[in-house]
Amino acid sequence: MARRCRYTDDDVWSWWDSQVGRVQIMSHIIFNTIRGKQTKDTLSDVRVRRLVLEYMKLGSLTIDPFARDCTLAYPYTNDIDPNTRSVYNMDALDFIELFDFDWFDMAIMDPPFSNRQDNEVYGNNNLYTNPRKIRDIELALGNRVRSNGCVIKFGYNSNFSHRGFELDRIMLVRYGGSINDMIISVHKKYTRNIRSYKDE
Ligand SMILES: C[S@@+](CC[C@H](N)C(=O)[O-])C[C@H]1O[C@@H](n2cnc3c(N)ncnc32)[C@H](O)[C@@H]1O
Repeated sequence: MARRCRYTDDDVWSWWDSQVGRVQIMSHIIFNTIRGKQTKDTLSDVRVRRLVLEYMKLGSLTIDPFARDCTLAYPYTNDIDPNTRSVYNMDALDFIELFDFDWFDMAIMDPPFSNRQDNEVYGNNNLYTNPRKIRDIELALGNRVRSNGCVIKFGYNSNFSHRGFELDRIMLVRYGGSINDMIISVHKKYTRNIRSYKDE
């Protein structure tokens, strides 16, 4: 006699959502969504942290120019705010330029998402006043990551300015109501550096 399953598909999906979010494969890009709570410390969310750890192989060298109190990329952690646990307290671009090209296996790029957030939440204002600054940071960061490495970007968009990368994965963190989602995009490096781009 067939036994009746105690769980419906909805039960299974809601359990799966609570663990990793719903996953879909769209052509070659992996896409999933999770429900989140807004926080200043992005990587304190276990599911977000798990996503980053999936790409961080044992012993891989990672750079995090906007690390705040996150130590995943230790000792290559930086934050302009000296009241954080970061090893360096420099402007992100100056920090990235300390290192040679192709030095890192991966990078975490989690800047304030807008000028307003930069001012109101973190008390800085040097990222969005110059429209080229984020682009320059992305080019410099992309050049420091080796071929086949990746950049994990957090923000309101999934663009990555360095042309040697292609989009591999998206996780959408939804906060509900009219609050902006957070887009986490993983970009994989498939070519060497584009030296024709002015970097330094
Ligand atoms: C979204 S938070 C990073 C959160 C961190 N990834 C975590 O998981 O806890 C962005 C950080 O960027 C720092 N920041 C803002 N402008 C910067 C700049 N020009 N250079 C370096 N850090 C900057 C802020 O002080 C803030 O701590």
